[in-house]
Amino acid sequence: MTETLATPDVERAPKRLFIKTYGCQMNVYDSERMADVLRPLGYATTDAPEGADFVILNTCHIREKAAEKVYSELGKLKLMKQDKAAAGLGVMTIAVAGCVAQAEGEEIMRRQPAVDLVVGPQAYHQLPELLTRTARARGERIGADFAPNAKFDAMPEVRGVNGPTAFLTVQEGCDKFCTFCVVPYTRGAEWSRPAADILAEARGLAAQGVRELTLLGQNVNAYDGAADGVGEAGVWSLAQLATGLATIPGIDRIRYTTSHPNDMAEDLIAAHAQNPALMPYLHLPVQSGSDRILRLMNRKHGRAKYIELIGRIREARPDMAISGDFIVGFPGETDRDFEDTMDLVRQVRYASAFSFMYSPRPGTPASTMAAPVPADVALARLHALQALLLEQQAAFNASQAGRTLDVLFEKKGRHGRQAIGRSPYLQSVHVEDADHLIGQIVPVHIASGEQNSLTGRLLQQKAA
Ligand code: SAH
Ligand code: SF4
Ligand code: F3S
Repeated sequence: MTETLATPDVERAPKRLFIKTYGCQMNVYDSERMADVLRPLGYATTDAPEGADFVILNTCHIREKAAEKVYSELGKLKLMKQDKAAAGLGVMTIAVAGCVAQAEGEEIMRRQPAVDLVVGPQAYHQLPELLTRTARARGERIGADFAPNAKFDAMPEVRGVNGPTAFLTVQEGCDKFCTFCVVPYTRGAEWSRPAADILAEARGLAAQGVRELTLLGQNVNAYDGAADGVGEAGVWSLAQLATGLATIPGIDRIRYTTSHPNDMAEDLIAAHAQNPALMPYLHLPVQSGSDRILRLMNRKHGRAKYIELIGRIREARPDMAISGDFIVGFPGETDRDFEDTMDLVRQVRYASAFSFMYSPRPGTPASTMAAPVPADVALARLHALQALLLEQQAAFNASQAGRTLDVLFEKKGRHGRQAIGRSPYLQSVHVEDADHLIGQIVPVHIASGEQNSLTGRLLQQKAA
């Protein structure tokens, strides 16, 4: 194709933006916000990178595999960028955002010269400005200064929404410094958004049909945002924020993730008994069931405290579904330590959980600790733990059979008029002939519970 033919088309069409997201839910939120920031510049998102004008990889640094994936993806993008230029279709600008950007900085551009921009998690509001500068000189890196307030202040008020559920970041950063974890280095210190800003964002989402909010933070239950904008002195706790959000018409369900056991305040536990909008599902990572390993991990709590905490939470909300994160093969972990983890899992009974093989991360204290666990031993432990956790998940799902649960329908299913929604316990629920109910909360009779989802049927056609 010649340039004279291609150019007018390229100029008329909206600019195409492709964002690929790795890692946690906060990255999903950030990717949505990057699209919001770029929309006024004429960028519309596409779901494939081929031919895109702007490609952003929003990256995760948590484990080695996650970080390395970025470089193989960049290798493919480099070829697409060359193809696009060779076809006379203009420039494909490539940016690396997120936690790898923060951790590795300009090193990324040295390793992959096709990258034009590197932008950390607190600087993506500067993308429009960076883009215009890249037109002149490539190779900018922004990040490192950790000032989340500037980012949130610069965000456009209107968010693009995607169905009846939405993520909403209320807190960022971590001061806990678990010895295995990069997050305190990539996301900076704990910081909470002012309550008024969160309420305003939530009202905007509700006006667009959002019924369920998942409040996000690396330590979301450490939330202590300024309350002056909502007419109160001091700060609001997460429990107070949830109460405030529940008064917004349309907001019927509130979830939050991820919590730290040491920040599980009394008022938050009590809120689970008092605030019906707070869903009975809690992600409360413990990482290990061994006191010795918890100490080496710098978790600042022991197994007894965690088990006792779960007990108090279940007193306030007997049906609370508990979820968790586990690491196996942490340096020095013995068979005995691992058995303590299995034992803790048996005592707590999880509704769902994530488990990982320890991955040494550069710059973290654990990466130089003595007695690394051989990979085959760690893998065998991972398999044993995952088998137990899956068994518990299947049992929890099966125990819902015969109950009637409120389901928020989110999207169409794979076939016919099937719709898929979520139970209060965050289980996927598949229901036939329900696609007209998307966006509504409807009582559903649960016929059966399988390993990964529930199957139900409608009790009535009228929506809640
Ligand atoms: N509190 C955080 C945790 C982020 S990391 C949050 O907001 O979600 C998510 C999980 O990844 C951790 O709970 C831990 O189980 C796991 N993880 C973190 N660092 C790891 C490492 N170096 N190796 C293996 N798993 C890790
Ligand atoms: Fe990482 Fe620990 Fe902070 Fe969670 S609490 S983000 S695991 S340092
Ligand atoms: Fe990964 Fe950063 Fe989230 S390291 S888990 S994307 S906070």
